[in-house]
Amino acid sequence: MRIVLLGAPGAGKGTHCKRIERQYSLVHLASGDILRQERAADTELGKKAQRYMDSGALVPDELIVEMMTEVIKKIPENGSFVLDGFPRTVNQADEFDKSLASAGQKIDIVLNLKIDDRITVERLTGRRSCPECGAVYHIENLKPKVEGICDNDGTKLIQRPDDNPEVVANRLRTYHEQTEPVVDYYRKNNTVYDIDAGKDADEVIALLFEKLDALAKA
Ligand code: AP5
Repeated sequence: MRIVLLGAPGAGKGTHCKRIERQYSLVHLASGDILRQERAADTELGKKAQRYMDSGALVPDELIVEMMTEVIKKIPENGSFVLDGFPRTVNQADEFDKSLASAGQKIDIVLNLKIDDRITVERLTGRRSCPECGAVYHIENLKPKVEGICDNDGTKLIQRPDDNPEVVANRLRTYHEQTEPVVDYYRKNNTVYDIDAGKDADEVIALLFEKLDALAKA
């Protein structure tokens, strides 16, 4: 299965992709996580991406498309993946479609997490993440068993620097201007399912599994 999971910052892409990855044994590719790894490793790409990420703007398309194409190339042919945070502009979607088509492949399903901006602000400012395994928690909604500690590996949880209110506002503006049009782009040629991501996390994942189970059986 080749899955694209779309949604605003804080819609729950990372949270649900981790569960999709486990349930269907596929590869979870999150462009934001890959960029954060590049930054941590102080690579040229990481240095270039820094100022865009810190301000809530998008990293230029040419850097992202090259980065994601390289990562996807490493997946064995016909391997399954779920994309989180990519594509994020119509140009990225178009370039990615062309690259898949040249390999005789296409996206099988697009899942669009729909959510109100007010909820995403609450979620992002309360988010805590594990720098080791990438697990995502929330100080109110999805608490770890021990406060501030990752359930999976005992690592101290951190708050992402771009989760401060000012940058969150910019990320949401960027989403509405540049990423929402990607949903319409996919509606032209793909099956797109809108999912109410404002529901409880277990309800959202049940809706996502329902669509993916149907695709797996088809
Ligand atoms: P990225 O890391 O992709 O950030 P984002 O899209 O802003 O998404 P988030 O990771 O913030 O949110 P999410 O939807 O994964 O929510 P989560 O599951 O964590 O990108 C960061 C930056 O990198 C960008 O700003 C840009 O600069 C750059 N970048 C990345 N990709 C790019 C691209 N393709 N092109 C150009 N630039 C790119 O959940 C959030 C919180 O809510 C958590 O605390 C979670 O526990 C909680 N939660 C989730 N679901 C629920 C629920 N149903 N109920 C209650 N709480 C919930």
